[in-house]
Amino acid sequence: MTQAMTNKNQTGFTLWFTGLSGAGKSTISNILEKKFRELGLKIEILDGDIVRTHLSKGLGFSKEDRDTNIRRIGYVASLLSRNGVIAVTAAISPYLGVRQEVREMHENFVEVYAKCPLEVLEKRDVKGLYKKARAGEIAQFTGVSDPYEEPANAEVVVETNKETPEESASKIINWLTEHGYIEA
Ligand code: ADX
Repeated sequence: MTQAMTNKNQTGFTLWFTGLSGAGKSTISNILEKKFRELGLKIEILDGDIVRTHLSKGLGFSKEDRDTNIRRIGYVASLLSRNGVIAVTAAISPYLGVRQEVREMHENFVEVYAKCPLEVLEKRDVKGLYKKARAGEIAQFTGVSDPYEEPANAEVVVETNKETPEESASKIINWLTEHGYIEA
């Protein structure tokens, strides 16, 4: 973390979630948003599902389109974070290469791996998408018929099959506090 990115009240940084669909990225992001706001901090969430309705409208799920989606999210997050805002991103971001690329666009970048075994996600199947992917109704579905490249050097790993979303959020807040990104 550099002091150059520090404004009077708040250090800007990007909290970059990665993980399979349904692993809890959006749920934990929403809890964090509430906690950050309670601390009086400025925060924006860039959620894959939402970004794909405007900024990335028209993009599909080929590697090329996913990488474009991630570069766009990374670019906006870098603008926000360098201006003292906490940018929380919640997209699958399955490819290591482009995650590394967006990391390098940042001064302050904290990668959080929302880790959960595929079997658990398939059982939960909150959006019913895994079932459709298995039935061949959705092509190139991450974890089923498309790759997910696990992060090797994520700053924080939350194991969402073992922790409640609140516990995962607290783990992240503790890490950020210990590393001087926020004051508890
Ligand atoms: S990313 O790969 O480009 O990072 P992103 O997070 O924006 O993906 O979008 C993932 C969401 O799109 C999933 O949570 C799911 O709701 C939906 N989706 C639709 N088709 C697919 C697919 N083929 N693979 C993964 N997610 C899909």
